[in-house]
Amino acid sequence: MAAPGTQSLTVLVVGSGGREHALALAISKDPAVGSVHVAPGNPGTARIAANHPLDIMDGDAVAALAIALHADLVVIGPEAPLVAGIADSVRAAGIACFGPSQAAAQLEGRKAFAKAVMADAGVPTARARVCTDAAAASAALDEFGAPYVVKADGLAAGKGVVVTANREAALDHARECEQVVIEEYLDGPELSLFVITDGESAVPLPAAQDFKRVGENDEGPNTGGMGSYAPLPWLPAGTVETVMAQVVRPTLARMRELGTPFAGLLYVGLSLTGVGPRVVEFNARFGDPETEVVLPLLDGPFAQVLLAAAIGQLAQAPRLALRPGACVGVVLASQGYPAAPHPGGTIMLAPEPAQVHVVHAGTALDAHGQLVSAGGRVLCVVAHGDDLEQARERAYAHIDEIDFATGFCRRDIAAPARLAAIAARLG
Ligand code: AMP
Ligand code: GLY
Repeated sequence: MAAPGTQSLTVLVVGSGGREHALALAISKDPAVGSVHVAPGNPGTARIAANHPLDIMDGDAVAALAIALHADLVVIGPEAPLVAGIADSVRAAGIACFGPSQAAAQLEGRKAFAKAVMADAGVPTARARVCTDAAAASAALDEFGAPYVVKADGLAAGKGVVVTANREAALDHARECEQVVIEEYLDGPELSLFVITDGESAVPLPAAQDFKRVGENDEGPNTGGMGSYAPLPWLPAGTVETVMAQVVRPTLARMRELGTPFAGLLYVGLSLTGVGPRVVEFNARFGDPETEVVLPLLDGPFAQVLLAAAIGQLAQAPRLALRPGACVGVVLASQGYPAAPHPGGTIMLAPEPAQVHVVHAGTALDAHGQLVSAGGRVLCVVAHGDDLEQARERAYAHIDEIDFATGFCRRDIAAPARLAAIAARLG
């Protein structure tokens, strides 16, 4: 039995990627947590938690596992189960769940819905048109001009957005999708702001930036993210407060008005344009690989805060303090990623020095128990340092110790020249 005044929480994290490994790590450090389970998890989460096989799109199965484990809290990582309403199934079984309802997850699942909420709430974002046929799409492309931004309305696993100077390519993407959002191009450095909310109260975490293109200098196709860092040394003072006031609070208020309060993690993707922060997108869950660098900067009872948000008591939750210093995460991906990642590449990890840890995103054990790649993004090497430069050096030094012949990484994640260029652009 736990001593009076202490708790021994059982937490189930749903998902199997780097985000879920990072969540399980942060949750396991909360002294109130007694046991951490991940379903289905991966070889990395197996080292710090108990893995369980699970079809994460089956609400009854997720609820049944949570009941069997006597879970006090379920945390759903990926967008697909959230958009499918799995959080509702868990709550219907009487178990606290960190993750929005199916209705609220539309903020990520339907771009046109998110745009309507932003318009109604007066949230600054790109001007946009929702188009269902080629003639309307063609007119919208001309209205906003190049570069063209065309977004499939529904979830598209990172493949729904085309940003291009080529009008024909933009129109082709619009034709391929039943309904698209065509919008104004936002020109400015991008950042990701994570906000923990119970629908009413909202707690922002340190802002992060991810590197979306596969190649150095942001060349090549978009990916899930090739690396990230936090905090952002170039972020103008007061930006987070501005975003909370202009974006987060009005959006949460509008969602309450609609009868679909958003509780969980509101991920605000922003562009810092010349006329202020503009929303690029909302996601309904922690972003990946930003989670890997944001969570290690938090100092405090992370699981208790998630639980408080899940049960509508975030205002009464203990505060999350910040650790000094910075974190850099560099993704090791399989050759061929994102188009056709090479599977089954052998990986030999190395002992982790202090301040460095390796998050598993797409790994598996083969028949001989050998760690192999099993996805596009395979590992994320995360390092903490007194500053970004030290964190970055530690991350790349450890990458050089890992033997993964069929893997590759970008060498310019959080590179000083890149940060200086952003700072210069912001004046
Ligand atoms: P999304 O799926 O909405 O996150 O879009 C993926 C990526 O496309 C974003 O992270 C941006 O880099 C880019 N993007 C989306 N919308 C815009 C926009 N209106 N202007 C410029 N870039 C955009
Ligand atoms: N890093 C971008 C995302 O999680 O959507």
